Amino acid sequence: MHTMEVYLDNSATTRPYPEVIQEMQRIMAEEYGNASSLHRRGGRAERIMSSSRQVLAEILGVKSGEIIFTSGGTESNNLAIQGIARRYRRRGNHLITTAIEHSSVLQPLQQLEKEGFEVTYLLPDSKGVIEPQKVAEALTPRTVLVSIMHVNNEIGSVQPISQISSIIKNENPEVIFHVDAVQSFSKLPVSPEEQGIDALSLSAHKFHGPKGIGALYLREGVLLNPLFWGGGHERGLRPGTENTPAAAGMALAARLSFNGRKEKIRRLYSFKEKIISSIEREHPWARLNGPREEGAPHIFNISFPGLKGEIILHALEEHSIYVSTGSACHSDSKEPSHVLKALNVDKDSLEGAVRFSLSFLNTEEEIDYAADRINSVIAELKKFQTITS
Ligand SMILES: Cc1ncc(COP(=O)(O)O)c(C=O)c1O
Repeated sequence: MHTMEVYLDNSATTRPYPEVIQEMQRIMAEEYGNASSLHRRGGRAERIMSSSRQVLAEILGVKSGEIIFTSGGTESNNLAIQGIARRYRRRGNHLITTAIEHSSVLQPLQQLEKEGFEVTYLLPDSKGVIEPQKVAEALTPRTVLVSIMHVNNEIGSVQPISQISSIIKNENPEVIFHVDAVQSFSKLPVSPEEQGIDALSLSAHKFHGPKGIGALYLREGVLLNPLFWGGGHERGLRPGTENTPAAAGMALAARLSFNGRKEKIRRLYSFKEKIISSIEREHPWARLNGPREEGAPHIFNISFPGLKGEIILHALEEHSIYVSTGSACHSDSKEPSHVLKALNVDKDSLEGAVRFSLSFLNTEEEIDYAADRINSVIAELKKFQTITS
């Protein structure tokens, strides 16, 4: 029996690097001080926070004072969207986003709609990309915030962030531009300075760091209303005793992910192409939802019309291959994916969609094994479907 496990659900979460686990264990055991305490133990914990902040700031090319630690991508998105919209309410009540955002962007926006904000939801083209011109057309003198994700977590489409920012800033430099970079950080270049981003969300567990920690980059001068009130930590924007082990784990995971990054990304593209072309050869009736080479290196979504995504998922699980039917955050609901719906994917393809997401830790051997098993599992299910229909 083959015992290889192939984890291809890295958009949901990734396996932490062993070095990250070790470092977090060490900090929990040895550096348990509260970063706000005035004694030596507090000072040591504070230095862990500031050096972790510094690592992330350097990678992003920003100032360390512009990094706010949060509990993850969901909180960073909520803090940016609710915080900025409410802080600048006097400027206007119009917000712009896309129909294919993560629920941690869509849901806070829906809450804001209940408070009287108006939200424009831009639709992508058939490959899941937002045409920058659509942003230009949606801007009004009342627009205060535009929130657009960098890489889509279900289909891997990449938004033209720099072009969108230029359009926004040309039209009205006061409009604030937030980017959910949870799926792109370490896989594609992310630079707030070069891409004209005012606020940017990150989550550590998507790049082999711990769960429950993330960061919000907030450009100096951009203000927000906090979601929590408390002890004044993180410049009062996100109070709560600092999670020292997780902050250190996040910084270390970022550093390790950026080591030899070019080669790791090249490998991801070749793994993605290997699986897609192998399925294409064996099952030409399957269809790719979203982009191929133009997409992110690690996420792609394939529909097997006539089959059910969930059945494929469990059949692959029998071979220790782990995939997803869409966003893990929605996997307990039976609602078809709002992202695929926005691409006008037909009903059969919606039901037969499977998301594959790779990571820096996957190996060539795993990819060969997975491609082979995916094809045989699909062939089996197809045969069964033909007999029963
Ligand atoms: C694009 C995107 N944004 C935000 C999130 C939420 O991040 P977290 O799980 O850290 O709350 C996710 C993860 O599911 C995501 O894929």
